[in-house]
Amino acid sequence: MLEMERVNCYYGEVHILKDVSLSLRPGEILGLFGRNGAGKTTTLRTLMGFVKPTSGSIKFDGQELTTLRPHDIPKLGIGYVPQGRGLFTFCTVEENLRIGLLLRRSGNETLDWVLDLFPVLKERLRQQAGTLSGGEQQMLAFARALCSAPRLLLMDEPGEGLMPTLVKQLLETISTLKARHVGVLLVEQKIDAALKVADRVALMENGSIRHQATPAELASTPEILFKYVGVRR
Ligand SMILES: Nc1ncnc2c1ncn2[C@@H]1O[C@H](COP(=O)(O)OP(=O)(O)OP(=O)(O)O)[C@@H](O)[C@H]1O
Ligand SMILES: [Mg+2]
Repeated sequence: MLEMERVNCYYGEVHILKDVSLSLRPGEILGLFGRNGAGKTTTLRTLMGFVKPTSGSIKFDGQELTTLRPHDIPKLGIGYVPQGRGLFTFCTVEENLRIGLLLRRSGNETLDWVLDLFPVLKERLRQQAGTLSGGEQQMLAFARALCSAPRLLLMDEPGEGLMPTLVKQLLETISTLKARHVGVLLVEQKIDAALKVADRVALMENGSIRHQATPAELASTPEILFKYVGVRR
């Protein structure tokens, strides 16, 4: 469903993404790991059209994304949970979710499905988003992205600042999206937790994808994870 081929991009004069190629199938979870500054967020921002590549192509179900304007990309069914959540903090929980619904004209049945996944939010529909706890805000950002009924979901460190049981819960929720054939590109620093749900992993360093493998392959070659993310398992 997603084919990113030899994408290059720059911030000013600085070459950030270097020949990045990635692909994703429906229902697949691809983990994108790398050290701070490796280019993970830039990869997601490029997919969302916020950063324009200087070369390369990005195809979603055969349609070229690099020529589209950023506000047209979510309408195709690509959801984005940005690092740092990007909520409308002065709106209520419900208003944030309804903005998600509007994107793809999803109906109340989508909202009901999402609220069943996040019962905590159901109890707080009228609360101002900015007053939610950090973990609740993280869930709201995820829930809002799901309200647009995405077919591809880009998640930038959804586990950031969450306690381990919540990270586990959140990743389990990501796994349930498989049944709906949603593809997920998951950037996460909580490597151990993310490896439990990822089907494949791409390791990024200095703006390039250096290695791709399954979690099982990485388990048998621990030196690779150590090299790219400094994790010993
Ligand atoms: N708007 C910008 N202008 C200039 N340089 C930028 C900009 N945004 C990011 N960069 C640089 O691009 C590089 C890649 O940043 P990016 O945010 O993609 O990294 P990351 O892998 O997401 O890191 P982290 O794990 O810390 O979130 C970094 O060196 C960063 O300083
Ligand atoms: Mg980042």
